[in-house]
Formats: sequence, structure tokens, C-alpha cells
Amino acid sequence: MGYGLQDMDTLIILLITTLAVIFISGSIVLLFALWSIHTIIKIKVPWVKTPLENIVKVFSEINLPENSLMYDLGCGDGRSMFFAEKQGYRGKGYELSLYPFLKCLIKKIFTGSKIEIKRKNFFDENLKDADLVFVFLVDAVMEKLGNKLNKDLKSGAIIVSYGFEIPGWKPEKILNTNPSKFYLYKI
Ligand SMILES: C[S@@+](CC[C@H](N)C(=O)[O-])C[C@H]1O[C@@H](n2cnc3c(N)ncnc32)[C@H](O)[C@@H]1O
Repeated sequence: MGYGLQDMDTLIILLITTLAVIFISGSIVLLFALWSIHTIIKIKVPWVKTPLENIVKVFSEINLPENSLMYDLGCGDGRSMFFAEKQGYRGKGYELSLYPFLKCLIKKIFTGSKIEIKRKNFFDENLKDADLVFVFLVDAVMEKLGNKLNKDLKSGAIIVSYGFEIPGWKPEKILNTNPSKFYLYKI
């Protein structure tokens, strides 16, 4: 008993469809990866998460009134903002990398959170209404960040930087968390 011509046609169509699906999904993944690499090269900062237990520790050092506004500049998956919201603060974050931005957005939608997230470069935004600024960036951008915070922030605003100091600024406190420390500043 052999295969008929119709069976052959079905097999060929199935093979072509499978190859097309593999090709299209592979191309999407490749494009996504290239786009992510391009973003990292442009902004010089990869997405690395602050350990949650360290976020808990640093917030225990901060005592701001309810509804105070916290910014996370380069908010990744939004973990600091979701935690800040639980503490009664409002959260606003900027994130240029597509994957963490989408992760944060999906969590916001599914949890009904009121945090705000924008896929924008925070260097182009005015931060004058911030009461608290959370950052985890890299050395290469810290001087530029310091200049921006000096220009934008109101007196009394608090800045917490995970892992990296702001050059020329004196921290009010250094919190010994692992694997990196927090530097706490006040304007
Ligand atoms: C080291 S991760 C920290 C993520 C998050 N804040 C946390 O603590 O878990 C830094 C993030 O900042 C984002 N980022 C860096 N520069 C940025 C910029 N100028 N505007 C918006 N996002 C930026 C990167 O895409 C990256 O996801």
C-alpha cells in the first residue's frame, strides 16, 4: 500500500507551512534581539534587576508622606514602583528597552496598578515633581544624571542610587546591601 498523490500534496503543504512558521517566528525573535541590542548600545545601560529584598531594605530608610511621587529612571520591570505603590507612594517610570517595558506594562494592566510607565528617554523629561528618585544605572551616565537631577529636582527630593555613586555628590547614607550598595542623597 503506497501514498496517493493527494497525500503527497498534503505532506508538502504541511512541510511548507511548518517551515514558514519557523522562519517567521525566527525572524521576529531575531528582530527583537537586534532591536534590544541596538537600544542597549544607544543608552549604554543593560537591564539588570535590583534584588527585591534590597528594594525592601532601602524603602525602610525612606519616610515620605503618603502619595509622594517616586520616579524610577530606567525602571526595568517596574519592581521598585510596584513596591513603592504598596507603601502608599505614587510611581512613575521611564524605560526604553522594549522587553522590560512590556513586562511592566502587562503587570500594571493585570494587577490594576496605578503606576505610570512611559517608553521614553528620561533625560528628555522634566523631573521637577519628584519627591523620590530611584536609579540603577551605570558609571558612564552618572555624571550626566547628577547634572540633570541638580537642574530639575526641587529642594528636599531624595535620590537613591543602587550600585553607583553620583560623581561629586556626598551621600547622606550608604546602605550595605548585597551584591551592591545603595547611595542615598538629598537635594
Ligand atoms: C540596571 S537596569 C535597572 C532596572 C530597574 N530600575 C531595577 O532596579 O530593577 C537599568 C534600566 O534602565 C533603562 N534605561 C537606561 N537609560 C535609560 C534612559 N535614558 N531612558 C529610559 N530608560 C533607560 C535600561 O533599559 C535598563 O532597563
